Amino acid sequence: MRESDILATDRQIGFIQDTSRLIKESESKTGRRLTASVITFGCQMNARDSEKLAGILVSSGFELLDETEDADFVLYNTCTVRDNANQKLYGHLGEAHSRKKKNPSMMVAVCGCLPQEPTAFEKLKSSYSFVDLIFGTHNLYAFPEYLNRLLSGERHIYEITDHSDNIVEDLPVLRKYPFKSGVNIMFGCNNFCTYCIVPHVRGRERSRESRDIIKEVERLSSTGVKEVMLLGQNVNSYGNGIDGEISFPELLKRVCDVPGIERVRFMTSHPKDLSDELIKTIKNDEKICRHLHLPLQSGSTKVLKEMNRRYTKEQYLDLALRIKDEIPDIALTTDIMVGFPGETAEDVDDTIDVINKVQYDNAFTFIYSKRAGTPAAVRPDQVPEDLVRENFDRVLKCVQENAKKQSLRWQGLTMDALVEEKNDSLEGYVTGRLSNNMIVHFAGSDSLIGKIVSVKLDECRGFYYMGTLL
Ligand code: SAH
Ligand code: SF4
Ligand code: F3S
Repeated sequence: MRESDILATDRQIGFIQDTSRLIKESESKTGRRLTASVITFGCQMNARDSEKLAGILVSSGFELLDETEDADFVLYNTCTVRDNANQKLYGHLGEAHSRKKKNPSMMVAVCGCLPQEPTAFEKLKSSYSFVDLIFGTHNLYAFPEYLNRLLSGERHIYEITDHSDNIVEDLPVLRKYPFKSGVNIMFGCNNFCTYCIVPHVRGRERSRESRDIIKEVERLSSTGVKEVMLLGQNVNSYGNGIDGEISFPELLKRVCDVPGIERVRFMTSHPKDLSDELIKTIKNDEKICRHLHLPLQSGSTKVLKEMNRRYTKEQYLDLALRIKDEIPDIALTTDIMVGFPGETAEDVDDTIDVINKVQYDNAFTFIYSKRAGTPAAVRPDQVPEDLVRENFDRVLKCVQENAKKQSLRWQGLTMDALVEEKNDSLEGYVTGRLSNNMIVHFAGSDSLIGKIVSVKLDECRGFYYMGTLL
């Protein structure tokens, strides 16, 4: 960690202490605890940020409620990758406004990716002026300071910056699961896929130092974490820009070597620079989970070029099939987008061809959404909605057929599952996650939660298994 980052951390910890004093004063006046909740809208990185925000709230003295909007302080940690994420937030804010009219002391805050986008930020300020605090992705670490200002009575705190000066380590974190955790290994993205807003709202790629990452994993392990997921928009470019830093496969090996860590996952791997060394590393280390998410986006070389993905259909196919060949028990999943400007039915045929050849275990399919400020958004050849719908349905059907077939291939086998939670709908059952990321439900007591157990996969029911604890 750089000295300036250490100073920035110390300063924020000072704010947490002062807020804690303010909250105690308020509680002794009102005779009740102040409550807070964090509502998360986005990806794994967004969810990890929410754990940091929750940690700061608890250290400042709030009682944290599960994702509910009935708290004294409600923080929306937003996403803007597609327009429906924006619409979802506006829906929630509408409800928050009615609640605040009844309870004017309620505090509402919005943070994360959405306010980093200038038009969305303007809309928040003008149409949702009851929101007390807005801050972006680059100054999340300064949340203790903003919270302190809010509790000192300041309103309309708007703090958006367009780049990050610090990678602030060591602020408190409240994990959702005691036995597994995400670990940021890098922030931002330099790839500028032409449809994507992430580089605009998360900024340039910045890797954390491997020493700091390993230290964090050691700390997590010492508090009971068995499974870590290394997080970055493109983990394959980990270390770029830091002199003498180790490669991503080497980092994976070192994380696996941390005592107490039994499973390691990572997300996301861009196909353009997935190395042979990475394939070898996954193959040779049993602790690395048998799951690889390898976003395709499109199977048409023409569309891929226009998306600036920097691989062709053939290169992608060669890579995916090589991975399956080297590691036959790996589950491959992907992201697919339909309706990118200029996309024809023939382009979609190419996408379907790749799905059939790779035979994904699962895929997230998205309809292209225009994002302000991206090159694709201003193209004149946006695809008509009815054609997009038709193509989307074809892709979805193909994805589902393949996934169904693929998931059957584990039926009857015995695998290790990390038990994550008790099953809400089946009394006396718990739910575990397999190394390949599939879910299995089986009869067992709550005391198994957090343990890795052997389970026989009796019956595949689409995307999950029913099993028996051995
Ligand atoms: N860094 C990751 C993706 C992060 S965003 C990667 O490159 O793989 C997650 C997914 O959202 C993307 O893979 C893409 O399929 C989808 N997505 C991104 N921008 C989108 C847009 N404008 N419209 C629809 N889907 C989009
Ligand atoms: Fe977006 Fe592309 Fe970066 Fe992924 S790699 S976050 S899709 S710009
Ligand atoms: Fe993640 Fe959404 Fe931001 S996908 S990086 S929370 S725009």
